[in-house]
Amino acid sequence: MTEAAPVKADPATGGRPAAAPDPGVEKRAATRAPRRLRNVFNLEEFEAVARRHLPRGVFGYVAGAADAWTALGDNRSDFAHVKMMPRVLVGHATRDQATTLFGARYNHPFGIAPMGLSALAAYDGDVVLARAAHALGIPAVMSATSLTSLERVANEGPSRWYQAYLPGDDERIVAMVDRIAAAGYEVLVMTADVPVAGNREDSKRDKFGAPLKPSLDVAMQGLVRPAWLWETMLRTLRVHGMPHFENNDVKRGPPIIAKEVVRSFAGRASLSWHHAQIVRERFKGKVVIKGIIAPEDAARAAALGMDGIIVSNHGGRQLDSSLSSIAALPAVKAAAGNMTVMLDSGVRRGSDVLKAMALGADFVFVGRPFLFAAAVSGVPGVEYAASLLSAEIDRDMAMLGLGSLDALDENVLAPAWRPSSDSA
Ligand code: FNR
Repeated sequence: MTEAAPVKADPATGGRPAAAPDPGVEKRAATRAPRRLRNVFNLEEFEAVARRHLPRGVFGYVAGAADAWTALGDNRSDFAHVKMMPRVLVGHATRDQATTLFGARYNHPFGIAPMGLSALAAYDGDVVLARAAHALGIPAVMSATSLTSLERVANEGPSRWYQAYLPGDDERIVAMVDRIAAAGYEVLVMTADVPVAGNREDSKRDKFGAPLKPSLDVAMQGLVRPAWLWETMLRTLRVHGMPHFENNDVKRGPPIIAKEVVRSFAGRASLSWHHAQIVRERFKGKVVIKGIIAPEDAARAAALGMDGIIVSNHGGRQLDSSLSSIAALPAVKAAAGNMTVMLDSGVRRGSDVLKAMALGADFVFVGRPFLFAAAVSGVPGVEYAASLLSAEIDRDMAMLGLGSLDALDENVLAPAWRPSSDSA
């Protein structure tokens, strides 16, 4: 089941392989839950454990969504709405869920979505997510809103996927793309659905901002979570010093805790297809546009020569009335030409992964549960989360009569949900 990802000599890691998983890790992770996660049996259940571990504002930042959280709910209920057709007596003693993406073979059809402030929720969160993904043979996308330099994650993860938040400014884009390329990243994910920050009322209530303004309330939130305070915050300060926004631009950004600084979203609202084209022309690796819901935008990305798109409503954190990505997928896929089509937002079950693939996704990404897992139990937590999801995929493949994902098509869905059916 676990065919290794390709092994490449990588100058950025001093000749170490760039994406070779440790085959032993997955087996260990599959059989043993870290102590704090022993009552967690599926991806949804990481949230309750993380709620007890993280300060209110940090937990709310990760768990929450925009406005009234409508899109967050739809992301789950729209997956539940899609029904499948079990097939019997097919006789596959073992199943293979290895998947090829941009020429690389991954052990599973899912990866870790980019998540900002990972190193505030989890100790050394960006590196932890990248290391766990590397060990598992899956991709993790390094976030631009990160407190760890992209060069360090490229080396120590190692990570080959980087997500950029770019300003609508040609010169700054070229400089940033060159920095990303120089660090050895092979896939550049350009997030397109954040022209402005989403409206997060829970964060306002919790006085959680980025940067964090020091206050008695914020200090109290940390003091009542001693495990986080000791294992994540104080350890970070001791080992790495005060974290800064490292990757929003070529120059280092402000510190995470600051009285006055307002982190700049300036320029993001003017980002346009013109800038996407600059990225496409400048970056020699794969370029992926993240945050596509409209088929017209997928067609535009294809026309500009993008390698892929991620169908996403940002986990319900941007436009609260957005269509869910699973509902948007069939029409986006039909408009996407030859591009690789990936999806995130609301994937929590093995069946969700298979439904997305049946509706045209080549690969999916999962966000919040992996960060909760990293926050509570570090690399073993992330490995455990991945093992739960991969076990669900394997079980569902058996019940759908699939020996490998190459055999998966729309026929695993009940007829009404097949894109080719008139009623879909
Ligand atoms: C995000 N997301 C995100 N996306 C992105 O392109 N850049 C980023 O920096 C972030 N930051 C971020 C922080 C946190 C805490 C979360 C939860 C999410 C969105 C993320 O990549 C992805 O689209 C969603 O998380 C997917 O939805 P689920 O799996 O969390 O439901």
